[in-house]
Amino acid sequence: MRVSRATFDEVMFQTYVPAQFVPVRASGSRIWDSEGRDYVDLAGGVAVLSLGHCHPALNAALKAQADRMWHISNYMVNEPAMRLAQKLVNATFADRVFLCNSGTEANEGALKTARKYASTKYGEQKHRIISTTNSFHGRTWLAVSTGGSPKYTKGMGPVPEGITHIPYNDVDALRAVMDDNVACVILEPMQGEGGMYPGSAEFLGAARELCDKHNALLIFDEIQSGVGRTGALYSYMRKGVTPDILTSAKGIGGGFPIGCFMARAEVAEVMQPGTHGTTYGGNPLGAAVAETVIDIVNNEAFLERVLVAEQRLRAGFAAINAKHNVFSDVRGEGLWLGCELVAKYDNRASEFMKAGHRNNVVFLTAGNNNILRFAPALNISDAEIDEGLARTERAIAEVVGAG
Ligand SMILES: Cc1ncc(COP(=O)(O)O)c(C=O)c1O
Repeated sequence: MRVSRATFDEVMFQTYVPAQFVPVRASGSRIWDSEGRDYVDLAGGVAVLSLGHCHPALNAALKAQADRMWHISNYMVNEPAMRLAQKLVNATFADRVFLCNSGTEANEGALKTARKYASTKYGEQKHRIISTTNSFHGRTWLAVSTGGSPKYTKGMGPVPEGITHIPYNDVDALRAVMDDNVACVILEPMQGEGGMYPGSAEFLGAARELCDKHNALLIFDEIQSGVGRTGALYSYMRKGVTPDILTSAKGIGGGFPIGCFMARAEVAEVMQPGTHGTTYGGNPLGAAVAETVIDIVNNEAFLERVLVAEQRLRAGFAAINAKHNVFSDVRGEGLWLGCELVAKYDNRASEFMKAGHRNNVVFLTAGNNNILRFAPALNISDAEIDEGLARTERAIAEVVGAG
């Protein structure tokens, strides 16, 4: 059967506005389309492809597991899932791991766990969820309601009750809404989709302190920031603030759909048989890939290289800006950088992204269409960074030249 980009418009829900080319093959940080054109991938599948496309070790893990066993259900244990959970427990603050399939599902489970913990220990009145405006936590009902962009719930109400949003990095606002009926505070250690705003040490520290004071749980959504993206296995490790529950997805599967949430034993124990579940969570294929990702990423030299590559990208952005004067700010952590456009190009980030496609480079947008977002593979080479930057500069020159 022949398909083309037009097929998308004809037979699929129009919930996305995909690029005009059709990617058919990819390797490392390169993508090839159906016309044979190649692209440098500085988007990493939206911070998913931690080891690039079709990494040999991940391919080998997936293929070996595919020959052994695909699915067994949670009526039985499986070895890759237990190995993955053990590796996460060894590497983090957590004692228990729940495996699921995506980021939004990880947050859903984390929030349910927090409410269950609060009601079990302190009573049902303790159910408030504190989140931040501009945050993004996924697309399930609870996740869009917890997320801080009303556009994702518009026309779909009423939304679940008991959720309060405060501005990100605003310690006073957080202090003002906290009370003993708060079950949890959920935060991205750095807001990604919302505009690439790193959480300040004061804000994250205050969140920890206020949660302790009010017996509330602190949830860190590390779905985009986790698994080496910021130069630490999880970014909380660099921030010096440890959450009670951590959610992870995207990069942990390196492209295979898998997510998880993890917690200390005392928190996890409120989730007894029947309180939560999922058919595919802990699927052996995903777990076999994810344990291989963790083996490779959780390595000092690998994580140090992420920070070296960050500096190369930043130097490239500075050079581009010196020539074209398009960025008012470049911010982020590790290989997760946002270039905010100057006022003249406000709301025009997608124009730059499309120019990128014409110039054979893929990057993303963020915020209010005013930020170019970069989240390449964590193992991207210097040569690929340089080529990606050269193509990005050509794309920027094209938009700037057009006025
Ligand atoms: C911080 C954060 N949380 C949750 C999600 C949702 O993850 P998923 O799309 O896998 O459901 C995302 C996805 O962009 C995210 O960046």
